[in-house]
Amino acid sequence: MAKFIVKKSAPLSGEVEISGSKNAVLPIMAATILCPEKCEIRDVPKLRDVDVMVQILTILGASVKDELKENKLTVQAGTIATTEPPYGLVSKMRASFLIMGPLLSRCGRARIPLPGGCAIGARPIDLHLKGFAAMGAHIEEGSSFVEASADKLHGANIYLDFPSVGATENIMMAATLAEGTTIIENAAEEPEIVDLASFLNKMGARIKGAGTDTIKIEGVETLKAVTHHVIPDRIETGTFMLAAAITRGEVLIKNALPDHVKPVIAKLRECGVEVEDTLEGLRVTAAGKHLNATDIKTMPYPGFPTDMQSIFMAFLTTVPGTSNIIETVFENRFMHVSELSRMGASIKTNDRSAVITGGMPLHGAQVVSTDLRAGAALVLAGLVAEGTTEVDEVYHIERGYERFVDKFTKLGAKIVKKSPDNNSYNKSK
Ligand code: UD1
Repeated sequence: MAKFIVKKSAPLSGEVEISGSKNAVLPIMAATILCPEKCEIRDVPKLRDVDVMVQILTILGASVKDELKENKLTVQAGTIATTEPPYGLVSKMRASFLIMGPLLSRCGRARIPLPGGCAIGARPIDLHLKGFAAMGAHIEEGSSFVEASADKLHGANIYLDFPSVGATENIMMAATLAEGTTIIENAAEEPEIVDLASFLNKMGARIKGAGTDTIKIEGVETLKAVTHHVIPDRIETGTFMLAAAITRGEVLIKNALPDHVKPVIAKLRECGVEVEDTLEGLRVTAAGKHLNATDIKTMPYPGFPTDMQSIFMAFLTTVPGTSNIIETVFENRFMHVSELSRMGASIKTNDRSAVITGGMPLHGAQVVSTDLRAGAALVLAGLVAEGTTEVDEVYHIERGYERFVDKFTKLGAKIVKKSPDNNSYNKSK
């Protein structure tokens, strides 16, 4: 497996440009299945997860023109060849379950291998299925697959017990071509949901309220061609903000949307980091600042994002004082704690809370990236740890960060990718 070799680096400085959002583009790609005409998607990040979704769309019968070097994809799902994507692809990425709503709505049937649990928790799909059933689908759950079928989906009032991002997106897509009006209550409010709704509305869908807890979708007969630019990635934005903070550097983050990272900005400011919203971008300055501890509780949007929890924790291990973190979204999202502890961090966990005694010196170690964001957290810790840190299983990081090594290197980080093939230390492209 490829690893990143990270060395203690000088404070990061310079500019970085944020890519299109992974979590916005994946549902948008899934939504192209709803439309027989050409969908052009711009600002698409070149990522492993995007590659997997390209393969899934292709197997389903869509013609996909991949111009990812220019961050562009064109998808035309003129006809659908199959409603049963193979396990080998679906199992690579949980977000592949997002094709169920579009397939069911367009073809009246979808049989999807179960995505299974993952490192951060069981991640069930009951809320997605509850929504489809309320819209008239017959659901059959096997031990390794789930099948949904309906002659024609109809509108329904659906209350989500938890504002699940994936369930809101899947139901919203299914409702787009359903007969009548669907109302999703206690819907997730994440910016990626607003981006998906705006993509669908440009194609002729009738969706109101995306970005609030009540979304109303009036079903339409058919959708038409569209060109859409994906929003910037708020988690990548947050990652570079924390990279500036942990190295006590100064970084200008371009193409960021400050409104989407309000809780990260607020918490960094509470810690004493300066964050300025300038015309050029977000300028994050930790150089020369007196920093202090803080407490964090992850919540659905607009609360503090669970995807930033591990990354903020890495920073808090370097700030003198006691910080508390409570994880409310996923039940097992402290896998990075044992790895940070191996680097000298003092963190005690109890169920969903962690107490960090910050300011202990970190040292390099061999650590494993247990999930995408945990991997980024370990790289950040490696930038300030004495000596060399080897972060293993970095394919997780490459699932969700475009040109990760390049972008960090340009800011002065000492990070190289060690390829398993030739055992040599290569700068990743
Ligand atoms: C999305 C993001 C992921 C982020 C998460 C929470 C994508 C591709 N991924 O994941 O990066 O960490 O939102 O912000 O956008 N749940 C149920 N039943 C369901 C569905 C979810 O109980 O049917 C629970 C999950 O187990 C979890 C919580 O709801 O505890 C949040 O999950 P959800 O919002 O659905 O996350 P994802 O859409 O999988």
